[in-house]
Amino acid sequence: MSNILVAYFSASGVTENIAIKLSEVVDGDLYEIEPETLYTDADLDWTNEKSRSSIEMRENPSFRPPIATAVDNIDKYDTIFLGFPIWWYVAPTIINTFLESYDLSSKTIIPFATSGSSGMGNTNSALKASCPNANLIEGKRFPANASKDQLKSWIDNLDI
Ligand SMILES: Cc1cc2nc3c(=O)[nH]c(=O)nc-3n(C[C@H](O)[C@H](O)[C@H](O)COP(=O)(O)O)c2cc1C
Repeated sequence: MSNILVAYFSASGVTENIAIKLSEVVDGDLYEIEPETLYTDADLDWTNEKSRSSIEMRENPSFRPPIATAVDNIDKYDTIFLGFPIWWYVAPTIINTFLESYDLSSKTIIPFATSGSSGMGNTNSALKASCPNANLIEGKRFPANASKDQLKSWIDNLDI
C-alpha cells in the first residue's frame, strides 16, 4: 500500500485514538473530519429525539453537516482509511459529507469504526451512493482499546 490517508470523525475521542494508532501502523497521513460546528454533549444525546444528532440521523438524513477544513491534495492518496463512531447503526452523515466533497474515483476506501456494541451492519450501503466510483470495501468495528497489533493483523488480512 502506498499514499495512504487516515481520515476520521470522532465526536468524543474514541475513534480518534484508533485513527492515530492506525496512521502509525500504516504510515499514513492523518486528517480529522472536523465539523464546522462541533457537537456538544447535548447534541450527542441519542435519548432526546430533538437533539442535533437525532435530527441529523433520523429526521433529516439527507442533510450534510458541513466540514471545517478540506484535505490538502486528495489526489495524492490511493487508499483512504475512513474512521467514525457508529451512530444509529450507521456512519454519521458527516461521513457522507466527506465522501461527497471529492472525486474518489478508483480510490480504495476502507471504513473502520468504534461503537458501544453494534457492528458495521449496513454502514456501507449508506455510504456507497456518496462514493459511487470508489472501491468501498467491507470495514471493521474495533473496541475502544484496540491495540496496534490488532490493527496490524486486520490490515495484513485485507484483500487490497
Ligand atoms: C448519536 C449517537 C448514536 C449512537 N448510536 C450507536 C449505535 O447505534 N450502536 C452502538 O453500538 N453505539 C452507538 N453509539 C455509541 C458510539 O458509537 C460510541 O460511543 C463511539 O465509540 C464514540 O466514538 P467517538 O468518541 O469517536 O465519537 C452512539 C453514540 C451517539 C453519540
